[in-house]
Amino acid sequence: MILNISSAEFVCSNTDYKKCPQNSYPEYAFIGRSNVGKSSLINMITNSKGLAKTSASPGKTQLINHFIMNKETKTPWYLVDLPGYGYAKVSKSKVAKWQQFIQDYLTKRKTLINIFLLIDCRHEPQKIDLDFMDWLGENGLPFTIIFTKSDKLSKTRLDQSIERYMLRLIQTWEDLPPYFVTSAEDRVGKELILHSITLTNQLVYGVS
Ligand code: GTP
Ligand code: MG
Repeated sequence: MILNISSAEFVCSNTDYKKCPQNSYPEYAFIGRSNVGKSSLINMITNSKGLAKTSASPGKTQLINHFIMNKETKTPWYLVDLPGYGYAKVSKSKVAKWQQFIQDYLTKRKTLINIFLLIDCRHEPQKIDLDFMDWLGENGLPFTIIFTKSDKLSKTRLDQSIERYMLRLIQTWEDLPPYFVTSAEDRVGKELILHSITLTNQLVYGVS
């Protein structure tokens, strides 16, 4: 299986799911709290520095951003960078609007195959993420957790942190979601994510 991305291009940004690209390529979205590292991870996966815009201050990504991968191949797919949630400095009305257009996108986008929910590996389980997972579950939306910034913890601390997280999830979830551990800084986790996306694409396209 070839895991490398042969081409990655920005397609469009918008706040209305109806204006998202109309072809039926399988789509994978990256979501999570502001500053968790969504855009950095996308750049790491696609081997590019500036494809997705990153910033040290939270709230950088404000729109639904579509990127097309491998468009010259038989199995093109979309990668989507979404605005972060839980950014305290954004006004209440803006948060409400955010929720609405992201909710619409997540629930109505028919080609959306999987949601990668990013969590900073250093953080204890936070209400906002747990609530969001509950909402995904209620809406029947499949997701995979990605624990980001693993370079910030020692191996022991990292394992403890993930275990703590999973123990919290098992209190409310019958089945634990799959998870990956990544670091955009140390370029860790790219192959695992691409492997899972490639396998899914092969099923979607019926190729092996
Ligand atoms: P919003 O678009 O604002 O929601 O943020 P985002 O989730 O897209 O985060 P972004 O990728 O812009 O990264 C936020 C900050 O975290 C930047 O300063 C990045 O350099 C840093 N960062 C991202 N990934 C990593 C990582 O794996 N390790 C470390 N040490 N820092 C990271
Ligand atoms: Mg971003």
